[in-house]
Amino acid sequence: MQLHICENYDALSAQAAAEVIELVKRKPDAVLCLASGDTPKLTYSVMAKIATDQNVDFKRCTFIGLDEWMGISPDNEGSCHYFLHHYVFKPLNISNDHIHLFDGLSANPEEECRKMDKIISDTGGIDLMVVGIGMNGHIGFNEPAESFGQYSRVVDLGESTKLVGQKYFQQQTSLTTGITLGLNHLLESKKAILVANGSKKADIIRKAVKEKITPHVPASILRNHSNSHVILDRAAASMLNQER
Ligand code: GLP
Repeated sequence: MQLHICENYDALSAQAAAEVIELVKRKPDAVLCLASGDTPKLTYSVMAKIATDQNVDFKRCTFIGLDEWMGISPDNEGSCHYFLHHYVFKPLNISNDHIHLFDGLSANPEEECRKMDKIISDTGGIDLMVVGIGMNGHIGFNEPAESFGQYSRVVDLGESTKLVGQKYFQQQTSLTTGITLGLNHLLESKKAILVANGSKKADIIRKAVKEKITPHVPASILRNHSNSHVILDRAAASMLNQER
């Protein structure tokens, strides 16, 4: 795992965007999995601007969804669907046949999971994942647990995820379960980038990066990935030198 500490959120976002652009220039039909969430918003805006300015075409890329809230409609502004269309697919002009997202309204979420696993293996695997980190160390909706394993699955959300997740919604919303790629997908991706900014993420970043690799801090698994990068601003990196 490589650690990159940037001066601020703008620099972090520029660096993460540059990594995605570099890949798509080199491999125009790359398979990308881009997380939703507040952290990568600027990364995607910068990425879309560079794509326009430098004529980098994302239309041949395949996009795989990382996660979705179960029971939430794609039209809901808090859904991962809505986020990705707004920040990524519309700005980059991606057609629907290149987009594979979990259906949070599916009556058969288990089947939805197997479908996603098959799509990923049919593409030959994910080239790049850009992920955030939850306040409890989750990646996607892989909550702290007793074991790491797993491919796509349905997960009961942790208390902090239900609480923190309210920030994405206009009104109080019942969040109970999520559907997510598994940590095996992360480990099997050719490259993984975790972005985190702000002092509120400093403690969980310290745990993920410095303390033992444990499924109780799912993001710590990135240290078992041969091509993983953690890109932080100074505030998120501020507790890395503290002894516990
Ligand atoms: C959410 C999502 C994750 C996201 C993470 C961090 O619950 N399920 O995919 O990366 O939490 O979100 P944020 O960037 O808003 O802090």
